[in-house]
Amino acid sequence: MVHRIADVAEAGGLMGMGSGRFFGFVIGGAVPASLAADWLVTAWDQNTGLFAPSPATSVMEEIAGRWLVGMLGLPEHSSFAFVTGGQMANTTALAAARHHVLAAAGWDVELDGLAGSPPIRLVVSDEVHVTVPRGARLLGLGTRTIEKVAVDANGAMIPSDLERVLSEGNAGPTIVCCQAGNINTGALDPTGELADIAHAHDAWLHVDGAIGLWAAASRPSPLLGLERADSWSTDAHKWLNVPYDCGITICRHPDSHRAAMTVTASYLVQAAPGTDRDPVDWNPEFSRRARGVPVYAALASLGRSGVAEIVDRCCAHARRFAELLAVEPDVVVLNDVVLNQVLVRFLAPGGSEEDHDARTCAVIAAVQSNGTCWLGGSIWRGLAVMRISVSNYATTDADVEASVASIISAARAAAIPV
Ligand SMILES: Cc1ncc(COP(=O)(O)O)c(C=O)c1O
Repeated sequence: MVHRIADVAEAGGLMGMGSGRFFGFVIGGAVPASLAADWLVTAWDQNTGLFAPSPATSVMEEIAGRWLVGMLGLPEHSSFAFVTGGQMANTTALAAARHHVLAAAGWDVELDGLAGSPPIRLVVSDEVHVTVPRGARLLGLGTRTIEKVAVDANGAMIPSDLERVLSEGNAGPTIVCCQAGNINTGALDPTGELADIAHAHDAWLHVDGAIGLWAAASRPSPLLGLERADSWSTDAHKWLNVPYDCGITICRHPDSHRAAMTVTASYLVQAAPGTDRDPVDWNPEFSRRARGVPVYAALASLGRSGVAEIVDRCCAHARRFAELLAVEPDVVVLNDVVLNQVLVRFLAPGGSEEDHDARTCAVIAAVQSNGTCWLGGSIWRGLAVMRISVSNYATTDADVEASVASIISAARAAAIPV
């Protein structure tokens, strides 16, 4: 069905996703410097696949990547790539991992493909984000043999269960994917412990940190253990608050990263290895916009302390949502609010789980139509929940208070008789 643009535009065809009162999905706004830089990227219209034709944008991206690696406390020598989003950041990291674990088994996947290769075990948590299996599909690993590790009550991977899964299966090329920032609860997997276990089994550990890698800007690295993994992905267009599209892959093993991505052609002007940085060596894209430049601008304007401050402020707002809502009768916060995500369920007193589901969905719909703020729903452990994600740098205390008032008034109006 093809809609008329005027019809959909007039009927709420654009959402206020950049607003400090937008709490749906995991959507950041755009800090002013990054928005201006994004306009410049469009106006300059530089193809930033190679250094030679666009040294200025290439160098800005290189500096931004180095700053990120330092700010997140990851190994200094790590390589990186600015890709379109978390999906491609995960896929690029998995491609590097695929190269690395197969090379260790004596197989050149770039040359020989996967037909006849040693099988790769892909081990993920029960709470894996859908983009990891999709990455496995794109890379020819498939999803049928994916092995799942159990999670705790807040959705974080349980290290002892990873040990069990790895010990029970065959040794051989293995990639483990954990996450920093569960899409529903915000839970951070215990990466340090998981890295020790994965490495004891010669496995590669990837961290899908689309949401939560940014926590490393404010929390001491050893606490999270993030720096002990082999690769990381994150989204600048989420919590760093730069415009779409901007995801980032970071890799502890630059040789494997480069081997998985690099490409040459006679007409290209390519730098000799170890000299200037050609993005095409690290990215799955060939021609590309200079999407790292808004990251450069965001980091230059915020500094490390500014990024940490956004993370801390959003987490404090999330805790405030939880506190204010949990004191209402028949309103329960289902998750441990360890990051910026809050899951809320609205009970129908004396009712069944279906009644609670119905009331929860009614409250979400009422808040959405009221317009004070926007948030969505999800299913957590089979139960309907309201899902609040505080990812915008501009959200104020007053925004939280007004949004809570709107939620409470919707909840009071949606008391479903049972
Ligand atoms: C944990 C996690 N991984 C990956 C993604 C995919 O990111 P993107 O939508 O930028 O491709 C998301 C998106 O919400 C996510 O939450």
